[in-house]
Amino acid sequence: MTTKELRITEIVAEHAGREGPLLPILHDIQAELGCVDAESEALIALALNLSRADVHGVVSFYHDFHDHADPRPEVQICRAEACKARGVEALVPGAEKAAGDRVKLTTVYCLGLCSAGPAARHGDRLHARLDAKGINHLIETAR
Ligand code: FES
Repeated sequence: MTTKELRITEIVAEHAGREGPLLPILHDIQAELGCVDAESEALIALALNLSRADVHGVVSFYHDFHDHADPRPEVQICRAEACKARGVEALVPGAEKAAGDRVKLTTVYCLGLCSAGPAARHGDRLHARLDAKGINHLIETAR
């Protein structure tokens, strides 16, 4: 058994007996390995007696899970309707320029800050009422 397989087995065991263990397992694996790849999906499916398609369906549904590790810092920008109404689209070209290849810029649809958009997230921190200066600063300082 590889180190990765062993760690996945341990994470699954940590959530054994819990009701609805799949999402907590996926979050832990994403946090620890930087992704939930096909090998991880297969191991999780086997351990939880699910089909690989069941696990992959959940992984591919949520923006938080990635199928390969990306070492770049990630900034998520909300481009859902409320943030659009508050001007996020005008910020996107500058944000893309500020990100370049160093920062992974991703689009999400609602961060729960609809009345205080445009909104973005970096790591566990949410940022609201962003203007061009604010989003560019967020991206340029993202580590
Ligand atoms: S629409 Fe952007 S935070 Fe909800």
